[in-house]
This record gives sequence, C-alpha cells and structure tokens, in this order.
Amino acid sequence: MTTTPLTLTVASAEMLTPLVRQLRLRAADGAALPGWQAGAHIQLQVSLPSGATDWRHYSLIDLAADTSATEAPSEYVIAIRREDTGRGGSRWMHGLAVGATLTVRPPKNDFPLGTHAGTAVLVAGGIGVTPLASMAAQRLRQHLPVRLHYAGRSREQMALLPELQERLGSTLALHLDDEAGAPLDVDALLARCTPDEVLYVCGPQVMLDAVLSRSEALGWPRERVHFELFAAPAADTGVQPYEVVLAQSGRQITVAAGQTLLSALIEAGCDPMFDCQRGECGVCAVPVLEGVIDHRDFVLTQREKDAGNVIQTCVSRCKGQRLVLDL
Ligand code: FES
Repeated sequence: MTTTPLTLTVASAEMLTPLVRQLRLRAADGAALPGWQAGAHIQLQVSLPSGATDWRHYSLIDLAADTSATEAPSEYVIAIRREDTGRGGSRWMHGLAVGATLTVRPPKNDFPLGTHAGTAVLVAGGIGVTPLASMAAQRLRQHLPVRLHYAGRSREQMALLPELQERLGSTLALHLDDEAGAPLDVDALLARCTPDEVLYVCGPQVMLDAVLSRSEALGWPRERVHFELFAAPAADTGVQPYEVVLAQSGRQITVAAGQTLLSALIEAGCDPMFDCQRGECGVCAVPVLEGVIDHRDFVLTQREKDAGNVIQTCVSRCKGQRLVLDL
C-alpha cells in the first residue's frame, strides 16, 4: 500500500446541508486512485489562518451498489462540516474553489467493518454518518444484515439523508432531536440489540461516551463495540506540567503543560509505539507503576481505568505531580 501523498484536484463541490460541504477529488490526469474499504479516511493538508499547515482527516463516502468506487476509484468523495469555532481547517476546506489542488495522504482504515453474520448496527451522530454510510453500502453489497441509526439535531442538518433513505429503506432508523425533544435513547437502542449484533459508532464525544459506558454497564464485551470519533478530541492537553520517571533506566522527564506524554517521550529520545493519537486504537499503552492517571482515552474499560496501571500516552495525563512508567 502506498503512503506517498497524492496530488488531487477538487472536481466538484456541493452543499449537502447549510453546514456540510461535499467535495469530489480526482487526480489531475484522471488516473485511478488507491482503493479502500468502508471506514477508511484520507488526510488532507489544510492551511490555517495562522499561516501554518496541518492535516485533517475525512472519511470516504460511497453508497454505490457496486464496488467500482472503492476497488479502483476515479474519485474520492468526502463531506466537511464547517466548524466556526475551530482552528480554521474546515473553513479553509469550505472556501476551496473547484479546480483547487490538494495534497492528500492515501486511504487508511482505522475503523474496519467486519464480515460477521450478525447484524452490523451502525450508530451515527451528525457528520459521523460518513464512514457509516459507506459501511451500510458495503454490508448491502455483501448481502449481510445491517441497520443504521442516524441521529441529528434536525432533518435539514443531516447530510446524505435522501441518499441513505433511498439506499437503506426500512433499515434506516432516524432520530431527530428537535422532533423527539430529547437526544437519542442509547439505553433503548442497546436493549433492542440481540447478542449476535455488533455495534459501529461514529459521532460526537457525548454519544461515544454514552454508548461505551452503557454497553459496558450491560456487560457487553468491548470487542462488540467499534467506534471512531468524527473529530479529534478538543485540544485540551492539560494546564499542569508533571514529572515522569522511566523506571527501567531511572531517567526523569517533564511533560509540559500543553504537551502530551507521547510527545514528551519522543522528545526525550524514546521510541514509543503509537498510531491514532486520538485515544482510540490502544497502540500507545504503557504500564504505570506509580501515580494517578487522568484517563482521557476511549480504549480502556472503566474497570481497567479504575485499576490505574496502564496509560494511553497520546491523550491521558497525570492527576498529580508524578508518574512512574515501566519503561
Ligand atoms: S495512539 Fe491510539 S490510543 Fe494512543
């Protein structure tokens, strides 16, 4: 699989809702692009108002009945929700003209869809629908059972709604906050699931927290719930510095306010394992021998968090002044 960045141009743009813009990206010469599977995302280099550049990741969308859009795609389709209070990446994406050139990292899939026989229960909140729409289409193509619960504030704010209604029919369950007068009832949704059903969740943190904590309370194994946040967690990297002792070498390092433990380890010349840097994959786990952990990840169960002997270094911090790691 290539990781060399691609140069793509904006072939077309369309507003799906007042805040969500869909872009179709193609190679300038029309060449086929690297293939992908439902749940995959691409990363795009964006320019921020500060003058800096950064990367934003967007799930790839495909609702087709055949595999041409994923096996040898001629274009990538993404949807961007404008965040007016964000750092400016989504506003920049909304301002791109048709014909603009973008630097794009090829598809990567941190949220793969299984081929289990039990129904894939997809739970989407807002723009989190994008990977799940592709998953629904993939399950339908594979003749495997699927059900999509799509929650949003109001009908006019829900991207891809007409397309999903047409593609999914009665296997699409809508939840509209403004019509229901309340957010999605996660307890009721979980109660309706049979033991062979597997959940795939993508939405805002409040939805993810609710699904993870309620399914854990009901005794669901964590492997039954697959998830992805549709945005990186808020850039709350902590205001207090703290000390970290690496027990195997005796070295001591400082994690500055505003710095992650992972970046402090890298800065100190360590070679830690990591992947998502969003507290979702579990790759960056490190054993903790002493100290109280401020868990901010979505990987560990509540029981594991309470045990307090593993930290996800990409997002979690120390509640006190000092942590001792088994490194
Ligand atoms: S790198 Fe994925 S949880 Fe930390």
